[in-house]
Amino acid sequence: MSKIQQSQENRIKQALYDSWHRQVNYLRISVTDHCNLNCIYCSVSSMLPLKHEDILSYEEIETLVSVAADMGINKVRLTGGEPLMRPQFTTLVRMIAGIDGIDDISMTSNGILLARYAEELKAAGLKRVNISLDTLQADRFKRITGHDRLKDVLAGIEAADRAGLNPIKINMVPLKGINDDEIIDFARKTIEEGWNVRYIEFMPIGIPNGDVSGMVTTAEIKEQIQSLGELEPYSGLTGNGPARYYQFPKTKGTIGFITPMTEHFCHSCNRLRVTSDGNLRPCLLAREEINVKDALRSGADTDDLKELIQKAVNIKREQHNLAGRLAPDTDDRPMCQIGG
Ligand code: GTP
Ligand code: 5AD
Repeated sequence: MSKIQQSQENRIKQALYDSWHRQVNYLRISVTDHCNLNCIYCSVSSMLPLKHEDILSYEEIETLVSVAADMGINKVRLTGGEPLMRPQFTTLVRMIAGIDGIDDISMTSNGILLARYAEELKAAGLKRVNISLDTLQADRFKRITGHDRLKDVLAGIEAADRAGLNPIKINMVPLKGINDDEIIDFARKTIEEGWNVRYIEFMPIGIPNGDVSGMVTTAEIKEQIQSLGELEPYSGLTGNGPARYYQFPKTKGTIGFITPMTEHFCHSCNRLRVTSDGNLRPCLLAREEINVKDALRSGADTDDLKELIQKAVNIKREQHNLAGRLAPDTDDRPMCQIGG
């Protein structure tokens, strides 16, 4: 057997599978629960922020990712809160980029600080960013997020593009009576400015009684944008997530739909999460967690950590509660600690 065949063989052996035969290769890490916005559906400010000593240090994250990479994780997404709120965030990107076996490092950000950091993030090894943006109107941005910073986000998108953090994906969560009249404006951006826009169905995370009356379904979104043309399926966008992509003919941008509520994608789930306070979380929408921080802080060796990671992967459920039209099972944690 040649050296290349041998290394391919090793990679196959190292793949990580859950109990439902799904391969898990995507680790999503919430690096902080802090955020410089306070979006109406997230409400970071209503939570007590975690103390610095409660969140994983960069060295602890690096150790965890190295062990996970050895088990078959090859993609890492850094999320929050707002990742760029954590001091020296670029250092963490550089540390992860140096880990053997990690070939895609991405970040989900609100874009506010991107103009300042895009170049250095790219130089440190960040490949691409997804940016949360729910409105293109300045006054509305202030109402939704509590801050008058739309200009900063737009500057952040441009800076990310200039720095080559592509593809940039814009995440929009339409909400009835709040920003659903802008669905078509975002779709136009894919035609006029080549944006990659993704519409995400609102999930009732941390919402009392799981109220989803504000959620706009993908079917409703499609109906609104069909006046702009016939969407064609598109498969050329780098990514490892649940979005399904389309394009208006002869345009550069793309439209993605993420349908956690009306058409769940648990059967293709490929991810494991790390909460900002150091728990392995098998699912965004299920409360089971495995504490890995204590192990990291009490001298656990590689085999101990592997065991915890495998344990977390083993308890991934076949599907989350919302997929089965049951109440969400996430009242223990806000989205900012779990990571989006
Ligand atoms: P790429 O495809 O790699 O670019 O990433 P992604 O689309 O998975 O990343 P992003 O953080 O931008 O996630 C987009 C949205 O998809 C999130 O805000 C969630 O609404 C939804 N999503 C991501 N992961 C999960 C998941 O594990 N379960 C559910 N139900 N929804 C998820
Ligand atoms: N439902 C759906 N998407 C959400 N996001 C945050 N909260 C929710 C929710 N309750 C999205 C944000 C961001 C991504 C990380 O998660 O728009 O882009």
